[in-house]
Amino acid sequence: MAFFKRKKPAYTDISQIELPSHIGIIMDGNGRWAKKRGLPRSAGHTAGAQTFRKIARYCSDIGVRHLTVYAFSTENWRRPETEVSAIMKLFKEYLEEAIRDFKDDSIVLKFIGDRSAFSPELLALMEENEEESKDREGMVLNIAMNYGGRAELVRAMQSIARDAKDEKLDIEKIDEGLISDYLYTKGQPDPDLIIRPSGEHRTSNFLLWQSAYSEYVIMDVLWPDFREEHLNQALIEYANRNRRFGGV
Ligand code: FPP
Repeated sequence: MAFFKRKKPAYTDISQIELPSHIGIIMDGNGRWAKKRGLPRSAGHTAGAQTFRKIARYCSDIGVRHLTVYAFSTENWRRPETEVSAIMKLFKEYLEEAIRDFKDDSIVLKFIGDRSAFSPELLALMEENEEESKDREGMVLNIAMNYGGRAELVRAMQSIARDAKDEKLDIEKIDEGLISDYLYTKGQPDPDLIIRPSGEHRTSNFLLWQSAYSEYVIMDVLWPDFREEHLNQALIEYANRNRRFGGV
C-alpha cells in the first residue's frame, strides 16, 4: 500500500544539506553512563562536559549559527548536594577555561536562565565571558543554566505586565513577536532542530515557547558517548524531514 511506503532519505551526507540555523541539545544520560561503569554520577557529568566542549566546537566549525545546550534546569537543584556541587564545579572550570584560553575564539557566549541562584564567583565568570565575547562574529552558544521554559514564560509575563502598567507598552500590541522579545533568546531564531540523546521522549521544560515548530531528533546514545557522527546523523535526519509549520 502506497500509504505506508516510506520515502527513501534524500540526503546521506552533511555536505549536501542546509544546516539548521539554531540547534538545541538536551545533554541527557550522564548519570546512566556513570552507573553503567560503576562510577559516581559526577563522573558522568565530567565526561558530559568533555562531550559538550567537543560538540560545541564542532557545531561552530561546520557553520551552525546558534547552539543552545541545556546544562542545568530549574528542577535540577533537587539532586543530591554532592551532585549539584560537582556540576557547579564543572561550570566554573569551563568558564575559567573560556576566559583563559579562548581569547581568539569566534564563539559568542550567552547564559540563559535565572542567575540569582548562582554564587557571586560563578556570576562574575558568566558576566566576564559574555562581555569578553559579545563582539565576536561566530556561533552564538547559549548555555542554559538554572533554566526552565515555564519560569522563562513567567518572567516574560511579569515584565510585559510591568511595562503595560508603566504605560511603556500598549496591550493591543502584544503579539507572538513581542513575547519572543521578552525571552532570554531575544533576537535569535527559534531552534530548527532539538537533539535529545539517551532515548527519552520528553521536552523537560526546554525552550517551550521557542520549540513550537522545532524538529525533535531522539537518539539512543548517552550524552558522554555522543560524537560528531551522532550530530551528523541528527542533521541528516532533520534534513530529510518535511517541515510544514502547520501548513500542507
Ligand atoms: C542530564 O543527565 C545532565 C545534567 C543535568 C547536567 C549536564 C551537565 C553537563 C553536561 C556538564 C557541564 C556543562 C557545561 C556547560 C560545562 P542526567 O544526569 O539526568 O542523566 P541520567 O538521566 O542518565 O541520570
